[in-house]
Amino acid sequence: MTPTLDELRAAIDAELEGWLSETLQGTGPIAEPIRYAVLAKGKRIRPLLFVGAWEAAGGVRGPIAANGASALHRTALGPELVHTYSLVHDDLPCMDDDDLRRGRPTVHVRYGERAAVMTGAALLPLAIRAVAEGAAGLGLPDPVAGRLIGILTAAAGSDGMVGGQLLDLLAEKKRVSFEALARIHLGKTARLIAACCTMGGVAARAPEETVDRLTRFGIAIGLAFQTVDDILDVTGSSSRMGKIGGRDEALGKATTPSILGLEGARARAEQFGREALGEIAPLAEPGRLREIGRLVLDRDR
Ligand code: IPE
Ligand code: IPE
Ligand code: MG
Ligand code: MG
Ligand code: MG
Repeated sequence: MTPTLDELRAAIDAELEGWLSETLQGTGPIAEPIRYAVLAKGKRIRPLLFVGAWEAAGGVRGPIAANGASALHRTALGPELVHTYSLVHDDLPCMDDDDLRRGRPTVHVRYGERAAVMTGAALLPLAIRAVAEGAAGLGLPDPVAGRLIGILTAAAGSDGMVGGQLLDLLAEKKRVSFEALARIHLGKTARLIAACCTMGGVAARAPEETVDRLTRFGIAIGLAFQTVDDILDVTGSSSRMGKIGGRDEALGKATTPSILGLEGARARAEQFGREALGEIAPLAEPGRLREIGRLVLDRDR
């Protein structure tokens, strides 16, 4: 029986808790803020997308499924750890200067700025370690493991999340074209979300055509994701979201609603969603990805 989305999320959370406890043993005072940041209530969209893409690519029917879900979930922790690092740094006073995240005080508010910077920095190598261990557990050959790490690090770095985050900061209080905004969204959010999907296909040993489809799905759903995030910053409930709304306007951020209006932004998100779902329609088992895609569009947190 394939697990429900909630069961899958619970299994990923269990792997996250178990693996962190084991890995952080004896590491000193950095362990506490790392656990605080990671084990807070995140939606776990990125690891879910990784597993969803792996299922869509036929991984669920293949021989590596027999090696146990734990190795698959451990690989899925990689993108979640990169993402959590991006959140810890995103909230810093020199970035978006936020006090609430995942329903509790941000890491720098709770542990101080120095610890928050170090926590973010520590999460990146932990992410790579999780993927390396997960890939080994799945019995993937070294070049495939190397490719998974290459996909994740490319999406995290200067041409992906980090580069996009700087573009986002530089665009504050400026007039920005829709094309420039799309570049910011691609870099800061969609590249990492797409990497989850590409990695799922690669881990399933899918044909390149399928891997490419999953990447295109991931880019489109990633752009939808950030568009919805921008909408929720205007319309969402802070208690539901676990972060304070209205920050984008206060900081003068370039967002989809600030350029296209709320209705235009909603239409844009739906259009990205349709593009995404079109990409995966021909795949073997697209059901889970469809469900996650709907969740990305319809969420209120
Ligand atoms: C928030 O990501 C940051 C963006 C990239 C928009 P999520 O909305 O996935 O945050 P968590 O992981 O559920 O806290
Ligand atoms: C952040 O985008 C994207 C990241 C890479 C973390 P936002 O700054 O809009 O994310 P939130 O709204 O603070 O979660
Ligand atoms: Mg930001
Ligand atoms: Mg922010
Ligand atoms: Mg936001």
